[in-house]
Amino acid sequence: MNHFVLEEELFLRFGYEENAAHKAEHDGFTAKVMQLLLQYEKGENVGMDTMELLKSWLQHHILKVDRAYVPFLKAHGVA
Ligand SMILES: [Fe+2]
Repeated sequence: MNHFVLEEELFLRFGYEENAAHKAEHDGFTAKVMQLLLQYEKGENVGMDTMELLKSWLQHHILKVDRAYVPFLKAHGVA
């Protein structure tokens, strides 16, 4: 199962109040990745843009936004 889908499914199941904002970040990231893929397939050099996107995603989403839900899910017996 896709990691984003799993997170969003757990948020819905347990009523995580940040679900909509969190899902919006997933959707925005996915859209940016798809845009980079399209640019790459057209022969564009997307190396630096890809690195910047991944760096930003790690620093903001994975290390902050994802960590924020851990206490909530633990309180519901997950993780
Ligand atoms: Fe997430």
